[in-house]
Amino acid sequence: MTSKTRTRVLTGITTTGTPHLGNYVGAIRPAVQASRAPDTDAFYFLADYHALIKCDEPARIQRSTLEIAASWIASGLDPDKVTFYRQSDIPEIPELTWLLTCVTGKGVLNRAHAYKAAVDKNNAAGQDPDSDVSAGLFMYPVLMGADILMFKAHKVPVGRDQIQHIEMARDMASSFNHLYGEHFVLPEAVIEESVALLPGLDGRKMSKSYDNTIPLFAPAAQMRKQIAGIVTDSKAPGEPKSTEGSALFQIYQAFASEAETADMARAYADGIAWGDAKQMLFERIDREIAPMREHYQALIHNPAQMDKILLAGADKARQLATPFIRELRHAVGLRALGQVAQTERATPVKGALPSFKQYREKDGLFYFKMVDAKGQTLLQSLGFTSPTEAGQAIARLQTEGENGLNALGSSLQALSDAGRQLVLANLTELSQSKVKA
Ligand code: TRP
Repeated sequence: MTSKTRTRVLTGITTTGTPHLGNYVGAIRPAVQASRAPDTDAFYFLADYHALIKCDEPARIQRSTLEIAASWIASGLDPDKVTFYRQSDIPEIPELTWLLTCVTGKGVLNRAHAYKAAVDKNNAAGQDPDSDVSAGLFMYPVLMGADILMFKAHKVPVGRDQIQHIEMARDMASSFNHLYGEHFVLPEAVIEESVALLPGLDGRKMSKSYDNTIPLFAPAAQMRKQIAGIVTDSKAPGEPKSTEGSALFQIYQAFASEAETADMARAYADGIAWGDAKQMLFERIDREIAPMREHYQALIHNPAQMDKILLAGADKARQLATPFIRELRHAVGLRALGQVAQTERATPVKGALPSFKQYREKDGLFYFKMVDAKGQTLLQSLGFTSPTEAGQAIARLQTEGENGLNALGSSLQALSDAGRQLVLANLTELSQSKVKA
């Protein structure tokens, strides 16, 4: 299967907290499921550079990175099937951040929701608008753009509050492509409508900032105790209860099958005691979580193993990032001083045609190269043992175009994406001129 028919899905998790049931239901579980879809390549990463914007406690960043990584793996993410890595293990990301910074309007960043909210708050308090606002907060959308564009993600599953950031990433990609040629894929936000927003202990949305969370991998006894603390009304056992607006019922529903949920609704109508309902909720959640809890504990107690998994993921990610940043550096003009520009012009000059040159090297092997009208090399072969073989390879490129290029891959010097586009454009030009002649 070629990369064209595969969809790249990418998302980041900021490493500032301990995963709770709301994170599990809203993000981890759907992402693990999505990662198993056919024709999908999933990229999930720990956004620890982003964490520095919100958190200046080193131990907390470190602990959270370990807990989040262990939670995702324990929840079933297969690091061999997906690319799972830590943002700060990819030095190409801050490098790309700078390239994008230079094509992003400052005014665009002024309008980013998170920055604007901070400014509005300062203004309302009669303070300097930028009081306590770090440049990191201001640059947040550009770092996020680099995360996404680096891996040419097509789809980015995020919460509603992040849609604006994906739109900004698209704008950065368009601006860059417009200036320097087609290098970036334009990403799209994916909002999971069907995923339930989980209420917390107090009935408001489960969130760290409300201090109403149930940690995902708390010991079973602690989870039972916390579930006992979920707010309910004061209806006595035997009195019919309403499922409407019941946090307990909503949490149950997020874990139960339709049939189980219907049974619980009946139990409510029949006046189940709150204590019994809480016991049922605990048992239902524990049924799903208990097998993962052991795995989680094992990972948490072996941070070196976790590091190994993440570094292997970074390795995989960098196999894409390293050549891509090289291509981008070349595109903007950060390149060897004698190096000939190949990518400034996306289409060949009209009238002038590219050509193939065949020659023999001192090693006794036969080579060819494809040069454009100005004599710049577009494509360079490796050595063939006979001139016939080299000639056949050229014929294949001319008659089969892209298929020929794919088939000859191992007899050619590697091409960047942009270089490849240029070769294809020239091959097309060549074949069209033949048709006309
Ligand atoms: N900003 C995202 C959040 O707070 C986390 C994040 C960082 C992210 N980089 C990303 C999400 C790239 C998607 C893609 O939720």
